[in-house]
Amino acid sequence: MAAKRVGIIGYPIRHSASPAFQNAALQHRGVDATFTAWEVAPDELSKWVWSQDRSDLLGFGVTVPHKTEIIKVLDHVDEDASTVGAVNTVVVTEGHRLFGYNTDTYGFLHALQHEGGFDVRGQDVLVLGAGGVSRAVCGVLLREGVASLTLANRTVSRAESLLADLDHHGVPAQPVALDDAAIAAALRGRGPVGLIVNCTSMGMLHGPAEGASPISAALIPPDAFVYDLVYNPPVTPIMELARGVGAQTLNGLPMLVYQGAKGFQLWTGLDAPVDVMMAAARKAVEG
Ligand SMILES: NC(=O)c1ccc[n+]([C@@H]2O[C@H](COP(=O)([O-])OP(=O)(O)OC[C@H]3O[C@@H](n4cnc5c(N)ncnc54)[C@H](OP(=O)(O)O)[C@@H]3O)[C@@H](O)[C@H]2O)c1
Repeated sequence: MAAKRVGIIGYPIRHSASPAFQNAALQHRGVDATFTAWEVAPDELSKWVWSQDRSDLLGFGVTVPHKTEIIKVLDHVDEDASTVGAVNTVVVTEGHRLFGYNTDTYGFLHALQHEGGFDVRGQDVLVLGAGGVSRAVCGVLLREGVASLTLANRTVSRAESLLADLDHHGVPAQPVALDDAAIAAALRGRGPVGLIVNCTSMGMLHGPAEGASPISAALIPPDAFVYDLVYNPPVTPIMELARGVGAQTLNGLPMLVYQGAKGFQLWTGLDAPVDVMMAAARKAVEG
């Protein structure tokens, strides 16, 4: 049987760590397939999808900026993906149909529970950023029974519409500007923040605001848990501030690996070698 193809689409995509740990997993499990990062510009998405030969394509991961637009060209979207309105994993079925999943929801929570040892239930949570991944994060937090959710974003209207799209499960949720004073005012009357999640791309190496933290240390309680979904650099600016006040931290690498492990299972039907993937991801990012 000819070698199969699998990969990830995004724009830009050259800094993705996914090929390193997915190829390590394919090799470890003896799958005759190669994982490639495919750079697909926003206006080329549907053309790229229709130009693919599906007979040797297992599927592909989907990252910025395609997670919402990809839904238009899929044959089926699973419940998690449809709830959050974003797909990050596409599987080519035996009948060559395209099925979409959201494994960010699983990756986010599993990494927080297993690597961070943190339980979100009953926590007052501050989420920073209202882009694609924030949809998955807010959807999971509201479903898992947090005490309250405050969603801060540079473009407040985006935070408003994100919250309007989600089922709140009775949890009080408020949008606010990504500004220290506005966040402090919004948090008055809530319990102390137990979890802060950075879903902005601020602080990301080669990103739009490299070296910057979305909030100052004054907003980070010493007993809070700060979870930055950015994974490069390994200690991000907000993590440095958090460590400075004594807070616990976790970066986005375990989430990246766990969401990718779910993708691996969906594409190959095999158990993902998570330890092999984690080691390869760490080597790719940390050298
Ligand atoms: N660890 C993982 O597995 C994983 C998975 C997915 C994503 N991520 C990371 O999460 C981050 C966001 O991803 P995404 O898919 O949600 O991206 P996205 O849809 O492009 O959203 C970007 C977010 O960052 C904000 N932002 C960007 N530049 C900013 C700046 N200079 N100042 C203030 N806010 C700024 C945007 O605010 P506006 O709405 O105002 O533009 C928006 O909230 C990325 O760094 C990505 O690498 C990690």
